[in-house]
Amino acid sequence: MKQLPVLKLQEITKELAETGKRVKVLWQEPGSLAFVARGREYRSEFHINGSDEVTYMIKGTMNLHYRTPEGKEEIAVIPEGSTNWMPPNTPHSPRFPPDAFALIVERQRHEGEIDKFQWFCPKCDNFLHEETFVVSDYRADPVSQAYKNFFENEDARTCKKCGNVMPNALAEAATISGRLPARNRNERIMSCLRHT
Ligand SMILES: [Fe+2]
Repeated sequence: MKQLPVLKLQEITKELAETGKRVKVLWQEPGSLAFVARGREYRSEFHINGSDEVTYMIKGTMNLHYRTPEGKEEIAVIPEGSTNWMPPNTPHSPRFPPDAFALIVERQRHEGEIDKFQWFCPKCDNFLHEETFVVSDYRADPVSQAYKNFFENEDARTCKKCGNVMPNALAEAATISGRLPARNRNERIMSCLRHT
């Protein structure tokens, strides 16, 4: 048997802050997948997966947006030092700043299990678009592709109910990137692409 891991959260958050990375996977096992995430400036989609999810705020506050079975959007505010449990298949969008850190515990996906990413109209809340992925390795970051597919497709971003077009966050990131040095530019663009 391998030695049981004991990980210091403060050292992990320091590493993420110093390297600019957004996520550090602590372990991935069938019953437990754990990672520390730094917040992202841009987060718009709702993630749906079949795992329970436990959040512990190491530093800063998270506004955990979620949708009820009736389709109503609610927000659970999770302050620093607080924890939250979320049932499986809850559409959720964890929003917290880049200098905030969360420990997230889920379970590894079953073979062939599908994660969904959904967007809703920011003006009238009508359903806009869904991307689906099989997440076999959390480090593979499938959300980057989901964001790319969505934002590069204007039809997907156009509300069929009210006609509002959701802004292209990738184009905005590219505009921002023109004013930043290369290292920061790459990090800023990736921060728009990834999520937790
Ligand atoms: Fe709309």
